[in-house]
Amino acid sequence: MDKLKGSARLMIVSDLDHTMVDHHDEENLSLLRFGALWESLYCQDSLLVFSTGRSPTLYKELRKEKPMLTPDITIMSVGTEITYGEEMVPDAGWEEYLNNKWDKNIVLEETAKFPQLKLQVESEQRPHKVSFLVDKKTAQEVIKSLSENFEKRGVDAKIIYSGGQDLDILAQGAGKGQALAYLLKKLGSCGKTPNNTLVCGDSGNDAELFSIPGVHGVMVSNAQEELLQWRAENAKDNPKVIHATERCAAGIIQAIGHFKLGPNVSPRDVEFPYVKEDSFKPTEAVVKFYVLYEKWRRADVPKADSVVEYFKNVTDANGVTIHPAGLEFSIHSAIDALGSCYGDKQGKKYRAWVDRLVISQTASDSWLVRFDLWESEGDAWVCCLASLALTVKPESPAGFVVTHIHKTWLKGHSGDEQASKL
Ligand code: GLC
Ligand code: MG
Repeated sequence: MDKLKGSARLMIVSDLDHTMVDHHDEENLSLLRFGALWESLYCQDSLLVFSTGRSPTLYKELRKEKPMLTPDITIMSVGTEITYGEEMVPDAGWEEYLNNKWDKNIVLEETAKFPQLKLQVESEQRPHKVSFLVDKKTAQEVIKSLSENFEKRGVDAKIIYSGGQDLDILAQGAGKGQALAYLLKKLGSCGKTPNNTLVCGDSGNDAELFSIPGVHGVMVSNAQEELLQWRAENAKDNPKVIHATERCAAGIIQAIGHFKLGPNVSPRDVEFPYVKEDSFKPTEAVVKFYVLYEKWRRADVPKADSVVEYFKNVTDANGVTIHPAGLEFSIHSAIDALGSCYGDKQGKKYRAWVDRLVISQTASDSWLVRFDLWESEGDAWVCCLASLALTVKPESPAGFVVTHIHKTWLKGHSGDEQASKL
């Protein structure tokens, strides 16, 4: 949260399963398209917040399975746990606040009286959240009796039904909406209310997000019946809440455009040859560089000398690249080697993407860009910590040149010389 000096230009608060992450898209294309858009044009002055029903355990599992970005803030267990940064530092104030009128033991006692409720796995039972599976047919009647029983016992609980199967019982003050309201208040108290906030969801536990005053909202095209019904009853005439025609992250990209919240063309959708940008953005230059690198190795661009030529045009002939295995090459010789790797990853479910990109200006016309460069091939993932130096060069074809690249293996090092060519 401290990454920004002032207000975020845009704060995106997105659910994960079936919203940011499309479990029906093995290629993860919309997720990758969103990631490239965010890293190239938003990550420096905006905030990315994930708000998921998953516990920290299941959230971390998802991060290992899908090419997701590292968010600035993570809200887990249906708004009962808020953490900050990559280190996931918990918000202790929020946890304390939720203890108010909440007694987990009474909740367990009362729910035990309903044989229709099947307890979810242990990892999903959290200090301020108890979760069950319950059949669609009996859900409403169970919810009604449960809330009466809770009231009788003086427990202030919130009951939420999602995805036509999950029943969550939370401390009354919790929930995705309340967690967002808390966050907005916290940002406001230090003068950092975001200029715009976009909430994104697909199921029942996301409904609250759409009732927070002032926010824009997108229900993705594949939203669940229970959320669409909530919209029909509560937000039918609210022009700030749309039902996208695109699935998952593609629906989020669509909403950024619909509400005019900023640019919404992902670098992954920009065809080669690239045109010179009017205003140079180091983040965009780096993302586009590695998008092209991936497309070259996947043979998603035509095999043309112009691609190799482009790489040479945007790199300094005297520049050096330090390979994570500790080898040093001239950047141009690395490009020559890349030139002969055209399509070496074709049909191999290969992807390359950047995460945690930060820039620092080192001179009036130069920047140092730091990022994680991920490369995956099926289930095998490798990551390099990368630093790349670049300088504006108005007379050159792209308007900039990369003068230095330095990479170090970070996670899942496979010693694979095939990875990390540039
Ligand atoms: C996630 C959680 C689960 C919860 C559901 C709906 O799937 O793992 O515990 O019930 O979201 O909120
Ligand atoms: Mg969801």
